[in-house]
Amino acid sequence: MNQSRQPGTALITGASSGIGAIYADRLAARGYDLILVARNEERLQDVAGRVRQAHGRGVTIVRADLGRRDDLARVEEILRTDPAITLLVNNAGFGAVTPLLETDVDRMERIIDINVTAPTRLAYAAAPAFVARGGGTIVNIASIVGIGIEIMNGVYGASKAYVLALTQSLHHELADKGVRAQAVLPGATATDFWDTAGLPHAHLPDGIVMPADAMVDAALVGLDLGEVVTIPPLQDGAGWTAYEAARKALAQQFGHATPAPRYRNAA
Ligand SMILES: NC(=O)c1ccc[n+]([C@@H]2O[C@H](COP(=O)([O-])OP(=O)(O)OC[C@H]3O[C@@H](n4cnc5c(N)ncnc54)[C@H](OP(=O)(O)O)[C@@H]3O)[C@@H](O)[C@H]2O)c1
Repeated sequence: MNQSRQPGTALITGASSGIGAIYADRLAARGYDLILVARNEERLQDVAGRVRQAHGRGVTIVRADLGRRDDLARVEEILRTDPAITLLVNNAGFGAVTPLLETDVDRMERIIDINVTAPTRLAYAAAPAFVARGGGTIVNIASIVGIGIEIMNGVYGASKAYVLALTQSLHHELADKGVRAQAVLPGATATDFWDTAGLPHAHLPDGIVMPADAMVDAALVGLDLGEVVTIPPLQDGAGWTAYEAARKALAQQFGHATPAPRYRNAA
């Protein structure tokens, strides 16, 4: 990020609590004006008040339920039409800890609405606008369960695997057009997420829960480093580099008109 120029406006979804509220503070400290999106207006006002007082930046609140198409469309329109917006943080999301056989499929569909459909539509609104404006950044909050699919509820893990893959494709398609994309993969982080998921983080094993401010500060270091994928709790980054190299090498091996020998019928 070039800090000598005015950075512009950041639109942050899920800014009423947890990780999104910390992004609001940190991005305002970096000189961004803010558009804060979530359902709970009172909590949004609290965050906005604190940010204005601490950093003196302009803060606009947008009350929106990203699971409602009309609300989502309003936020898409803001991204398309506000020329000051240079950064989208797709952060709103929620999860579950229950296994499939104990889980209501309607709740799973709502996870897909908020964790998959909403960030997709917002990225599709922001990306062309950023290209037309000569640049911009899309930060998508994924999760380590996007890789460790078996750790939590499967639909939640799959939703975050989607966010990771979407971000990599955004980078692939848009990096040469001035649009940056970063996926952030937090591990367990101390927020209300866990209460919503049905397992307060105080009940998680000692030593695995990261404070939310430490997570966001690390994610911003990753952004400054130019990373496409930032995994704050991964202690040895070489593990991710090797994983990605293996994925890309495997992806080169699929162009064949005949099935592999192990699938050929002996008859
Ligand atoms: N905490 C963790 O351990 C952890 C780990 C990995 C990834 N993450 C991801 O981090 C992101 C932020 O979560 P968090 O940990 O900060 O939890 P959080 O404190 O519960 O925050 C979730 C945010 O999403 C918003 N949100 C939820 N449903 C919404 C809807 N229908 N429309 C608009 N906004 C909605 C909430 O605002 P309102 O309720 O006001 O709408 C809230 O601001 C999520 O995508 C989560 O999956 C969290």
